[in-house]
Amino acid sequence: MSFVVAIDGPAGSGKTTTARAVAERLGYRYLDTGALYRALALAVIRSGIKDPHGEEALAVCRAARVRPVWEGRAMRVLLDGEDVSEEIRSPEVTRLVSPLSARPEVRALLVDLQREAGREGGIVVEGRDIGSVVFPEAGLKVFLVADPEERARRRWKEIEASGVRANLEEIRRAIDERDRRDSGRSVAPLVRAKDAVEIDTTRLTIDEQVDRIVRLAREAGA
Ligand code: DC
Repeated sequence: MSFVVAIDGPAGSGKTTTARAVAERLGYRYLDTGALYRALALAVIRSGIKDPHGEEALAVCRAARVRPVWEGRAMRVLLDGEDVSEEIRSPEVTRLVSPLSARPEVRALLVDLQREAGREGGIVVEGRDIGSVVFPEAGLKVFLVADPEERARRRWKEIEASGVRANLEEIRRAIDERDRRDSGRSVAPLVRAKDAVEIDTTRLTIDEQVDRIVRLAREAGA
């Protein structure tokens, strides 16, 4: 069970849904690395700090104890022992996490934690730099892409489904902005690892993309 499946891609490319389903099909655990960055962002917000670039934000991140735990195969994230899996999805956290996660010192805080969680393999790991930095030796690396229009539409549907009104144009702009930040940062930017398989999900159903990845994983020895 030493196999690692790395799934990277921009916001809204279908990573989370796909990674969860692939893990389920392979009988693997699932690690959402974005949730770990989000937990640090929540710690900063809770301290009343507005600026993700300063020394204060860094000190909070250094002091915060972030830990992934599993209930069966489902992952939860703990911040100083408290389950914050729901709270980290707030728009406030979503806004702060991108500039915060661009800081090399912040990334350094989470790399060992991610590697430790995947040490025994049998895991699907989702993020932005998993195939390129965290698990360069992963048995299968997948890079998901989708048209920005389609990604915005998916996010819009998700938000509306949760009973909240959403503005498609605003979402499109926020996704654009986050893409630019996540791809433009100097440390571990969102890039496709050379040996990653790129899958364009714009016109695929979730089932189709999951099937494709499970097949590739089995062929690679998962
Ligand atoms: O996948 P997500 O939206 O939960 O990720 C939240 C933020 O964390 C995203 O803006 C980029 C950052 N992130 C990262 O820099 N590296 C990762 N491996 C995962 C997420």
